[in-house]
Amino acid sequence: MQCDYFDAGLCRSCTLMGVPYAAQLAEKQARVEGLLAPHLAGPAAAVWGEPVASVESGFRAKAKMVVGGTVAAPTLGILDGQRRGVDLRRCGVIAAPILDALPAIAAFITTAGLTPYSVPERRGELKNVILTLGADGLLMVRFVTRTADGLERVRRQLPALLTAVPAAHVVTVNLLPEHKAVLEGEVEHVLTPARALPMRVGDVELAALPQSFVQTNTAVAGELYRQAAAWVDEVGPASVADLYCGVGGFALHAAGAPGSGRQVVGVEVSRDAVASAELARDARYRRDDDRARIRFVADDALEWARQEAALPELVVVNPPRRGLGEPLATLLAERGPETVVYSSCNPDTLARDLAAMPGYRVERARVVDMFPQTTHVEVLTLLRRTGR
Ligand SMILES: C[S@@+](CC[C@H](N)C(=O)[O-])C[C@H]1O[C@@H](n2cnc3c(N)ncnc32)[C@H](O)[C@@H]1O
Repeated sequence: MQCDYFDAGLCRSCTLMGVPYAAQLAEKQARVEGLLAPHLAGPAAAVWGEPVASVESGFRAKAKMVVGGTVAAPTLGILDGQRRGVDLRRCGVIAAPILDALPAIAAFITTAGLTPYSVPERRGELKNVILTLGADGLLMVRFVTRTADGLERVRRQLPALLTAVPAAHVVTVNLLPEHKAVLEGEVEHVLTPARALPMRVGDVELAALPQSFVQTNTAVAGELYRQAAAWVDEVGPASVADLYCGVGGFALHAAGAPGSGRQVVGVEVSRDAVASAELARDARYRRDDDRARIRFVADDALEWARQEAALPELVVVNPPRRGLGEPLATLLAERGPETVVYSSCNPDTLARDLAAMPGYRVERARVVDMFPQTTHVEVLTLLRRTGR
């Protein structure tokens, strides 16, 4: 893939830009195979399946645009070394329906009088605009502002925004008063009747409330969930836990058909994500017995596991980049089930966690390329006990 912003040195976020996609995928496969080699249950050829490839461009369903420039000429993109705005509104890895909305978003910033926040001067109002693409081209548009003045400006001009961006299904204002290098704050005001963005991922319609994590690459995430569900079905457990479940992608794929009877519990620290998962479950399953057998709890994964007298027959884990960490890896090593499905967005912490779980071996594995043009990669593994 070629990118004018990369070639001009304006943005270097996609560190592999210009490297042929087949070479990117082969390099990722080789690197991950090397890291996991000490932990395999058998010969590499028997463990590793085909990598799941992505389209090379337009795959990002989430765009986090930092706002810079002036009210009259805002930039949507990143900040440069001097913390000034760089406009990236034609970024080629972002999904087209999001790019299509950006000119109208920029015009809205001007008409609503939302002064872009200047990091060097610590002045201004609008910090970021975060867009997510859902099912049927629907968008969630979140304005991250410094004060309630920004909130009122967006609220007053909302009808104009909805006319200019008809795909905007959920519009929110997130307040971030502190001068901090984070993307968003804790307080969120939803301005539209719809609070959740529907997202069709794999075989399930998920729902995303504003402050919940969703995977970046919807098509590849669908393949990830399908593969995990296929492995779960091969094992056929009566009960499954999905730790770090987010909006419930793994849990709802593993829950099976209505009436399957499989007990599923998703554990997730974000309340918005838990509420999102419950919305998706209730839309998918109409029967009370299904709703009762698929539960989501807002808790820390480690604390939850510590409190469970007996863990479910199969555990799925999908932690953030830092991985499980020593305490949870050790807990699983000591009293985890026969089978663990570990999906990792950081092969280094995956390898570190596997070293702390010596009773498990990697029986199946696949590289899942959620993040083309970067060195980041998702790895899905099926771990089986070989003894304690
Ligand atoms: C990589 S995301 C995976 C989410 C989900 N499995 C998916 O496929 O979208 C990691 C998730 O872990 C959650 N999380 C972070 N720390 C946690 C903790 N200590 N306990 C439980 N969940 C946590 C985050 O809120 C986030 O939703």
